[in-house]
Amino acid sequence: MTKLSTKHLLGIKQITKEDIELIFRTADNFKDVLNRPIKKVPSLRDVTIANVFFENSTRTKLSFELAEKRLSADVVNFSASSSSVKKGETLADTVNNILAMKVDVVVMRHPNPGACMFLANHVDCSIINAGDGAHEHPTQALLDAFSLREKLGDLTGRKILIVGDILHSRVALSNIFCLQKLGAEVAVCGPSTLLPKHIESLGVKVFLDFRKALQWCEVVNMLRIQLERQEIQYFPSLREYTMQYGLSNALLAELGKTDIIIMHPGPINRGVEITSDIADGKNSIILNQVENGVAIRMAVLYLLSGQVKPTS
Ligand code: CP
Repeated sequence: MTKLSTKHLLGIKQITKEDIELIFRTADNFKDVLNRPIKKVPSLRDVTIANVFFENSTRTKLSFELAEKRLSADVVNFSASSSSVKKGETLADTVNNILAMKVDVVVMRHPNPGACMFLANHVDCSIINAGDGAHEHPTQALLDAFSLREKLGDLTGRKILIVGDILHSRVALSNIFCLQKLGAEVAVCGPSTLLPKHIESLGVKVFLDFRKALQWCEVVNMLRIQLERQEIQYFPSLREYTMQYGLSNALLAELGKTDIIIMHPGPINRGVEITSDIADGKNSIILNQVENGVAIRMAVLYLLSGQVKPTS
């Protein structure tokens, strides 16, 4: 297979295992390019990409922009905080105005779940979801699984635990879909107030006890508590959360699980969900995840741009 089954990347739910494997094979090639002295290829010359961010981002925005520049695309950046959205312009109007300037691909982050799906139904270009509210963050899940595949090989049967604020996490949902499509076993763990009702219906194991969950897994993906999405208090205090669900080398040593692979999508709240000795320790692949993000986004942009007519 040399083509994706879709024109957009809206979520992992909508793509196939074959799509994921094609993205990984393409990212392997781009990772080789990124390790050369000259890191740039002409693959997307004459393709124009708009990065449209309605929400803050460090990693995703920089990583997409770098990926686009490495592919020689023309890039424009739009930030809602300094735009006419503040004057009441709608999402479709904003993006149609951007498209009138002959843009081929839109990479969008938005606080509302489904915003990318809505846009894909209203505009005539490829849309890449860079995170929509608590819904999906597909390129994060792809770079996470790609980083694990580098470390472990085939993910079939691997036991992967996602810990923390599952309720508000687009990373959790996209990771569950992606890892399951690749044959891994997935579990979630957190306070019951931060686990969505009926989460078991996604085919995941559910742990409330962090120690039991750590005994089960070989990889742990620690999520940030998303205070900005919490309209009520879900646990008594951050200190209490850390006592129950914080990960430290001391805890892993006590459980005899010092070989667990540590992941985190960032941004990290050091001392809350994860201690510095874990984040910077020998089993952490957190910076590998960030590095692989560029190759994965190059692969997604390249494969989706094959389906758009470059502006001339
Ligand atoms: N992981 C992630 O999405 O980070 P940013 O919010 O900084 O993009």
